[in-house]
Amino acid sequence: MERLQKAIAASGYTSRRKAEDLIIQGKVAVNGEIVTELGTKVKKGDFITVDGKPIVTENKVYYLFYKPKGCVCTLDDEFDRPKVTDYFTDVKERIYPVGRLDYDTTGLLIMSNDGEFANMIMHPRYHLEKIYEVSINGLINGATLHKLEKGIYLEGVKTLPCKIKVINKDTEHKTTVLQIKLYEGKNRQVKKMFESVGHPVKRLHRLSVGCVNLKGLTPGTYRILKPQEVKDLKKLVNGKK
Ligand code: URA
Repeated sequence: MERLQKAIAASGYTSRRKAEDLIIQGKVAVNGEIVTELGTKVKKGDFITVDGKPIVTENKVYYLFYKPKGCVCTLDDEFDRPKVTDYFTDVKERIYPVGRLDYDTTGLLIMSNDGEFANMIMHPRYHLEKIYEVSINGLINGATLHKLEKGIYLEGVKTLPCKIKVINKDTEHKTTVLQIKLYEGKNRQVKKMFESVGHPVKRLHRLSVGCVNLKGLTPGTYRILKPQEVKDLKKLVNGKK
């Protein structure tokens, strides 16, 4: 027996949170009966429908994508811009991005239909390390970097300590290239952090998430995550419970 929202998320139909919304909205039926109770348990063989259509259990799939510039991670963009899922036309499963990168951010994005896995990777509690390369306007000084590393207030909430390394200071073009290791993923966090200390971000690129990196991929391409890599990612977050 498992919770209805978990069963829906496990099918790859949508995330657990969105499944809860669907249940509350009265769109989910179990064996022909509309169910609006979130705690409802279902068992193997129960016939679950959303808006009258049966949910089909998909194989769990995991991809590592090199997101290029100029595409969005949302699946319903109000401006109808290119989506990351447009790059996966030959994948039949309903995959979605595990986490978000901005329209103009490039780099590593995990795509999957495994809601459980996505929640684990994204959950702030697990502090999974993400490494970004960031180009900023101006020549940032050591004291400002130290302040960012210790944590600063963004919209009233303090960021977790992070690690920042200077890669290059271009005095001619007044630009600094840095590597930043974050252990959380607030919305537009890197850009907000540097903006808040007067160094707007010019370019942002994610190099790695946990134990996986972009090696061997070029912008717009992807590969299947190896079962061992999926295991290792799960292990990284499980070790932090
Ligand atoms: N931080 C940002 O500001 N943007 C991203 O796309 C990712 C992290």
